[in-house]
Amino acid sequence: MRKRLYLNNDWKFKTEFDEEMAEEGYNNPSLEIVRIPHTVKETPFNYFDDAIYQMVSGYRKVFRADQRFRDKRVILHFEGAAHEATVFFNGEKLGTHSCGYTAFEFDISDKINTAGENIIAVRLDSRESLNVPPFGFVVDYMTYGGIYRDVYLEITDKTYVEDTFVYTDVPEVYEENTPEQDVSPKSVGAFLHAKIKIGGDVRGCVITESLKRISGNHPDNCKDEYEEEKELNKAPANEDNVLDYHTLPIILWDINNPTLYEFTVRIYKDEQLIDEKTEFIGFRNATFKSEGFYLNGRKLKLRGLNRHQSYPYVGYAMPSSMQQEDARILKEELSLNAVRTSHYPQSQDFIDSCDRLGLLVFTEIPGWQHIGDEAWKKQAIENEKEMICQYRNHPSIIMWGVRINESADDDEFYLATNDVAHQLDPSRSTGGVRASVKMSLLEDVYTLNDFSHNGKTPGCISKKQATPDMSKAYMVTEYNGHMYPTKSFDSEDTRVEHAMRHIRVMDAIAGEDDIAGGFGWCMFDYNTHKDFGSGDRICYHGVMDMFRNSKLASYGYEMQGDDHYVLELSSSMDIGEHPECIRGDIWLFTNADSVKMYKNDVFIKEYYPKDTPFKNIKRGPILVDDFIGDTLAENENFSTGFANKVKHALNTAARYGMGRLTLGDKLTGAKMMAIHHMSVKDIVDLYQKYIGDWGGEATSFKFEAVKDGVVVKTLIKETVKDISLEAVISHTELHEGKSYDVASVRFRVVDQNGNVLPFFAEPVKLKTEGAIDLIGPKVVPMRGGMAGTYIKSRRRQGSTGKLIIKLDAAGNKIRKEIAFKINEEVGIYV
Ligand code: GAL
Repeated sequence: MRKRLYLNNDWKFKTEFDEEMAEEGYNNPSLEIVRIPHTVKETPFNYFDDAIYQMVSGYRKVFRADQRFRDKRVILHFEGAAHEATVFFNGEKLGTHSCGYTAFEFDISDKINTAGENIIAVRLDSRESLNVPPFGFVVDYMTYGGIYRDVYLEITDKTYVEDTFVYTDVPEVYEENTPEQDVSPKSVGAFLHAKIKIGGDVRGCVITESLKRISGNHPDNCKDEYEEEKELNKAPANEDNVLDYHTLPIILWDINNPTLYEFTVRIYKDEQLIDEKTEFIGFRNATFKSEGFYLNGRKLKLRGLNRHQSYPYVGYAMPSSMQQEDARILKEELSLNAVRTSHYPQSQDFIDSCDRLGLLVFTEIPGWQHIGDEAWKKQAIENEKEMICQYRNHPSIIMWGVRINESADDDEFYLATNDVAHQLDPSRSTGGVRASVKMSLLEDVYTLNDFSHNGKTPGCISKKQATPDMSKAYMVTEYNGHMYPTKSFDSEDTRVEHAMRHIRVMDAIAGEDDIAGGFGWCMFDYNTHKDFGSGDRICYHGVMDMFRNSKLASYGYEMQGDDHYVLELSSSMDIGEHPECIRGDIWLFTNADSVKMYKNDVFIKEYYPKDTPFKNIKRGPILVDDFIGDTLAENENFSTGFANKVKHALNTAARYGMGRLTLGDKLTGAKMMAIHHMSVKDIVDLYQKYIGDWGGEATSFKFEAVKDGVVVKTLIKETVKDISLEAVISHTELHEGKSYDVASVRFRVVDQNGNVLPFFAEPVKLKTEGAIDLIGPKVVPMRGGMAGTYIKSRRRQGSTGKLIIKLDAAGNKIRKEIAFKINEEVGIYV
């Protein structure tokens, strides 16, 4: 029976390769012992040169095989090695693979020594001078190096299921205008198409296919015929088997109820089961039409961000749990319905999570702006074939990107890439990301990076301005990014403008009926080359920082969701943070029914979502425009009408300064002096009393988010009195299995009310005990009041670990301990 044994442990690594590493008896005690996922070089957080990871390195692994491998088909599989890997097995060169983002494998059945030692050696080239995508010119992201995804052996019978490709035809069951959240699980009959390739000698073999539901909610009013595994077909096997099957009611895969099924192919010989292979599939209808994107018939505006697969210190080398965590953050924290894997196929673990969570994916071939020579293009086509064959069973993937991101037109090349995609997958549309409008459109969807919004211009251009063919769908694949880099420790005005740019573009896209959706640039800050970023080798383009801590901009996305309550204010309410002490616009980000605002515990105003100036998007931020409420009318000797005028003048002065007072405001001032006999000092005192910026009692502001009549969240902005440290941990039970596990710990330094302190910059000091290690430095400075670290499990060194965190916060010595448990699984690796 099929068995997978992981080869992630006990590799020996060297920052150069010598041929002898592939030979028997090679013994160099100076080699480092490493585990996979591995990076050829751990990097600093910033200010490092990409030259440090560019090298030809060597990996060597020795393992013992036994009887279990005899007379079997044995495959040596690499999920990802950046960027060109030449693999040797027992001294023999097996071949070279030249894409850092797709998997590759070799058949070693005839080469494996089943009675003793076997040697794998890899010459890994991570130089950016390689003549393969994305290299050839500049690239706005670091490309790192290393065998950074799993390595395993797959052992099967000599007759085996080589490949299964499943796609489904599902009717459009929802009404076009069914709202995004309002979708109940649906059960329908559908078509399942499976192309199954059987390898080896098929004579006398019988093949069966079966279906079983493994997740998703079961709607009350229908029955799922595949709750128990059900055989769909039984036939004599041949090399290429096709199954076209009309299912009985199945439950749809949708963003709200991502129902997955196991589709299992089995081969029997003499009534004995000799191989079985399972794919996780979903039944959904994902269609791009000229008017937009439709999921199961419902028109769905895609709301996504771009994701790179990088992390601080270790680049691409993070195990499944961290890949899964990013998908979870996108779906559950940022409330998105889509992600673009810019600019290459990403970990299967990430895409598996998108399948499980109901997050739609646009994935694309590796590359960035540059198209190389014929050999380079040939490699790009190879990469595309691998991408499609390796990822095409994922229900979450809705479109293939078949252009090099933002490259020039090259019709011959792109006719070929489109052709490959349609041949290998008749079920999905193609797109190809461009930087310019009206380029040659060979794909099914015109996909454009629309960077037209500069803070003043409209949020996006229209479909008509963008595409040469209105009959095909149109989608925005990037916006913002370099148009407004923003650090979590930038001034408040910058952080607010960053957030508002994301809102403006989202709102504009939501207002254009025929734009399928938009993907903001980007999920989190990332390390980049010298030609990009802020000079410290970081592009501060994320709505989160590199540790996945939220900047203000992320609340614009978060508030679109309903799974958790969101209440955030764009300001710390400290006027000294602004030039000329002018507060400017202050925004409430919330998904509540209303927000009540109090000043020094006196009610000022209740704000409602309808007050937002952003009318297209489901929810837009609400402008806080009143610091006075009815208090002026109640306390001063003004008529109600005049009190309102005074209130307007004071609020305007408070928000925008005296320079923006209207003629009416100035007239009000004159009347205060002439009719109410107030001196300039009296007016200043009035301003102090009602706006109260300095002197006297410190002002406090309280905001209460109300949902269904109940206060569900409270936000208080007042003088910082107490500082504490929050740690958000991805998981505290680590799974030491196919390799090490990693947990992320995100730090936020907050005041007594839980507000992040954006200018807190003291370091946390980290120490580990027990069976865990730290990734990265032991002393990590707070940036924008936030930071992070990663904890890595150790093998065979116990089942507990402890992270000790120390922080000196304005004299307050904070100490925190986080306990980790390590569960070790054996028998799945060699
Ligand atoms: C785009 C590019 C992205 C990133 C972004 C920054 O042109 O596709 O990779 O560089 O600009 O805004």
